[in-house]
Amino acid sequence: MTSKTKVAVFISGRGSNMEALVRAAQTPDCPFEIALVLANKPEAGGLATAQAAGIEALCVDQKPFGKDREAHERAIDGALRERGIQVIALAGYMRILTPFLVDAWEGRMLNIHPSLLPAYPSLDTHSRALTAGETEAGCTVHLVTAGVDEGPILGQARVPILPGDDEHALSTRVLEQEHRLYPETLATFCRALRS
Ligand code: GRF
Repeated sequence: MTSKTKVAVFISGRGSNMEALVRAAQTPDCPFEIALVLANKPEAGGLATAQAAGIEALCVDQKPFGKDREAHERAIDGALRERGIQVIALAGYMRILTPFLVDAWEGRMLNIHPSLLPAYPSLDTHSRALTAGETEAGCTVHLVTAGVDEGPILGQARVPILPGDDEHALSTRVLEQEHRLYPETLATFCRALRS
């Protein structure tokens, strides 16, 4: 049997997408394993969830590095290489990356974004879509490149925007699709990496 692709999931918060990836990885024919969950702040709730699932949960706190984002990323990169990580899955990682990490992991770093990119990159996607009177929303998994939320799209899922939707209702509907799309897209990506 070929070994599974070793994935590190980066989080900054609750980590519900990370949990979806962890659940998917537990199925026998999944081509990836979650070998590490990494956060940039100790208060990221998902760290405890990962630990409870028996996964190594590591905080590389950004604070001691101050404004030196590249030094922070060099510490992260060292931790990934020590563990033989092959692919990074950003899942609510709320720190813009420098060219150092983006270049080092080019073609092997994925992100999930809660909009139908290229529409609504960056923050506040749901409120902007509602204000604009959109009738459809969704989520996108893409490769990470230098521009924020700009890399090649690997997969998308669509949901309707219903009359009376507020941000909470819409984000809940989209999140449900994120939890389905991310594991599915990451699995396809990891299978393609091997072939
Ligand atoms: C998700 O909506 C994801 O698309 C975005 O940040 C949010 C993270 O949520 N990048 P969670 O931490 O995975 O629950």
